[in-house]
Amino acid sequence: MLEGAHPGAITDAERKLLLAWLAGPRVSEDYDNPDLGDSAPSELLARRCLECHARAAVKGTHADAKVSLEYWEDVKAVAFSTRIEPTPIKLLLASTHAHALALGSLSIVLGLLLCATRFSTRLTGALFGVAGVALLLDLAGWWLARESDAFVTLILAAGAAYAFATGLSIVLVVLDLWLPRRT
Ligand code: HEC
Repeated sequence: MLEGAHPGAITDAERKLLLAWLAGPRVSEDYDNPDLGDSAPSELLARRCLECHARAAVKGTHADAKVSLEYWEDVKAVAFSTRIEPTPIKLLLASTHAHALALGSLSIVLGLLLCATRFSTRLTGALFGVAGVALLLDLAGWWLARESDAFVTLILAAGAAYAFATGLSIVLVVLDLWLPRRT
């Protein structure tokens, strides 16, 4: 709304201040920050917008303006972007690096421990396999989800399978240590 042509008067400097506030990381902190004085967003909104966007105005003479911008309660409903941006590549790379190495080695150690337990090789092998494949699919999903959000489901499903297989493996290893020795 601020970037386009909008009814009401506002100077370019005020418009810039409001846009910088909305794009910045301190939307709620700076809304009525007393240090900003007359340039605080709440002051700018009161000066330039409430003529049409006060609660009473949008209920009465300015019903066409639709949203109230009088209180933080009203403003916060429209002040945040609802677009969800993908994680920056740099962060994703660092996160994949950390998780692949840490969870990969965890799963190998846990899988080998599991294979050394008394439980049937069919069960232990299946859990080891599920954990390995699920981890691979989960990590792959992080990258594929950048191309299509359908892969978000893959992250959820593979993540759940990985957590289940890992959790159960830990329980089985502990049980094997805890139960009386087999004769
Ligand atoms: C002279 C009256 C008037 C003033 C002053 C005014 N607006 Fe508006 N505003 C409107 C009208 C009318 C609409 C609905 C028509 C439209 O979408 O352009 C609207 C719509 C909006 C919307 C979209 C509401 C929605 O979700 O549909 C936003 C956000 C907004 N204004 C912000 C502001 C801000 C911020 C200011 C102060 C810098 C401001 N307006 C000043 C009249 C005004």
